[in-house]
Amino acid sequence: MKPQDRLLMRALRRETTERAPVWLMRQAGRYLPEYRAVRKEAGGFMEMIREPRYAAEVTIQPIRRFGMDAAILFSDILVPLEAMGMKLIFDDHGPSLPVPVRDRAAIDGLRVVEPAATMPFVGEALKLTRAGLPDETALLGFCGAPFTLASYAIEGGTSKQFSYLRKLMYLDFATFSILMDKLAEEVIAHLRYQVASGADAVVLFDTWAGSLTRADYQRYAAPWTKRVVDGLAGVAPRVIFAGESGHFLDDLLAMGAEGVALDHRTSLSAAFDRAAGRCALQGNFDPAALFASPQEVQRRTHALLDEVAGRPGHVLNLGHGVFKDTDPESVGAFVRAAKERAR
Ligand code: CP3
Repeated sequence: MKPQDRLLMRALRRETTERAPVWLMRQAGRYLPEYRAVRKEAGGFMEMIREPRYAAEVTIQPIRRFGMDAAILFSDILVPLEAMGMKLIFDDHGPSLPVPVRDRAAIDGLRVVEPAATMPFVGEALKLTRAGLPDETALLGFCGAPFTLASYAIEGGTSKQFSYLRKLMYLDFATFSILMDKLAEEVIAHLRYQVASGADAVVLFDTWAGSLTRADYQRYAAPWTKRVVDGLAGVAPRVIFAGESGHFLDDLLAMGAEGVALDHRTSLSAAFDRAAGRCALQGNFDPAALFASPQEVQRRTHALLDEVAGRPGHVLNLGHGVFKDTDPESVGAFVRAAKERAR
């Protein structure tokens, strides 16, 4: 099969397809016993990412078990920050960057690096994954969007209030811009490298963008997301995700990406009306609804598909990632319900 004929790729072109393609954000992960077994053997999360055999194996695991229409490379949005010179630690509390960059000198110390030279394990994992995937399964690469990467680089980890980030944005926009310029350049290089290594399409995760007002999103985040989207034009289809972003949906729809991912609070049918054929829409099943019974998951999946009513350009997914205490049986019910419902 030609890569462009894969179901996900046709849906991203908004062609009429036999059914909506389905995959899940964070479909590889701790809710799967086979993932936990590999993680134990590897000895840690970064050890899995840095060893292409492990990364490819856990990327393929959910496809083997459930048959989603796309696999997303097992890696993390913070990997490029490490390559740029930041210390990165993952432990039971999540990621931390113990030496954050909060002033001009620290930001000047970050290097824009060549992905093939500094993160060769990413390209190797993509190649190994492609070789192990069914032909019809699309392979996705991804990166964090500059704003979300800046939040981690400046805060030193996950944050609720983003105080250091906000101070730099508002009090020293020139320095903030230098950081965002560097991150955008690295993200473009990283996504191009992933496409050259076999990714069919790319996803840009802007997890924390929804913490901004619409006006602040337009000033402090969107220009650099736009730069990345434009930097990948003609290279591969681009899907952009911004967490809790219903208040600036119109800005996302206007970004020029082939796909926009919606969180579960946004009405999918209303978003289709507003998109007016400009892009495909991904989403937006509530990840917490996977805690319901398999029958209820099936009912809700069918209800979501009924809401879309066969409009072209729908990629069925969750509104955010799978929770780690999700029953694999619920993920199975979601994928089965999607596949049995033809247009
Ligand atoms: O299946 C997949 O989605 C592919 C791999 C993937 C991971 N992280 C693996 C992971 C992807 C695409 C990501 C993206 C990512 N990483 C995002 C953006 C998407 C989103 O969820 O909004 C963000 C914000 C991160 C940063 C990150 N990585 C955090 C905050 C955490 C801790 C929270 C948690 O779930 O543990 C991680 C760790 C992480 N990334 C895990 C996985 C499977 C769990 C690690 C483990 O095995 O202990």
